[in-house]
Amino acid sequence: MTEWFEQWFGEEYLRLYPHRDDADAGDAIALVDRVAPLRGRAVLDLACGPGRHAAQLQTRGARVVGLDLSFPLLIRARRRTGNLVAMVRADMRHLPFRPLSFDVIVNLFTSFGYFADDEQHQVVLRDAVALLRHGGTFVLDYFNATAVRRQLVPREDRVVGSQRVVIERRIAPDERHVLKEMHILDDGRSFVERVRLFSRDDLVQLMQRAGLTVGQQFGDYAGGPPTEAAPRAILVGVKA
Ligand SMILES: C[S@@+](CC[C@H](N)C(=O)[O-])C[C@H]1O[C@@H](n2cnc3c(N)ncnc32)[C@H](O)[C@@H]1O
Repeated sequence: MTEWFEQWFGEEYLRLYPHRDDADAGDAIALVDRVAPLRGRAVLDLACGPGRHAAQLQTRGARVVGLDLSFPLLIRARRRTGNLVAMVRADMRHLPFRPLSFDVIVNLFTSFGYFADDEQHQVVLRDAVALLRHGGTFVLDYFNATAVRRQLVPREDRVVGSQRVVIERRIAPDERHVLKEMHILDDGRSFVERVRLFSRDDLVQLMQRAGLTVGQQFGDYAGGPPTEAAPRAILVGVKA
């Protein structure tokens, strides 16, 4: 069975998320650079998508590898980084790198939480941590599930570019996932996102079990505190 995340992350995703741009990525990478200086470091952008963070990482002097499952997004990433960044098409559930290859691994803008069971999430993190050198840093940038639950907008009618889109959001009956359905009215196509509502505590636990010591936490890309209303759950883990 094809999973939703194998279908959704293509041209349509880029059209419907135009606000997730280079400026936004620049802020995220400035924060990463603060907690784990990037110059000269080997960095894996895990689920790099269209390469907006990879480009910023490269600008800050890191040696970057981007990995993603989506071919169309990797083509964008390649164009954006002018072939200066190695791009790998792979599933994060089967990471094609040698252990101890990277100084820093980033997983940004909720590029996690998509799998059917929690064990799979744990395995992905554990395998990713195996790729980090000792003393290396893992930065996980997830949505703040508390804020997602509280601020859920059940229905939105939007015009994105030239397309009219209806977006419906709900908490799944299991109370553990948020579902977002996007209906493109002009051509009748629909897409769905289904993301696990991991709390900050859940994420800390997953990271600890994967072998990381979780230190700093932030609530936004400006480095604000991880409050209940903050938009993001940004966690910094270090491998002993
Ligand atoms: C929300 S997007 C964010 C992309 C990028 N980090 C950014 O902020 O622009 C999530 C990304 O995860 C990728 N992805 C989803 N499942 C994946 C998997 N199993 N293995 C590798 N990449 C995956 C998607 O293709 C998509 O590029």
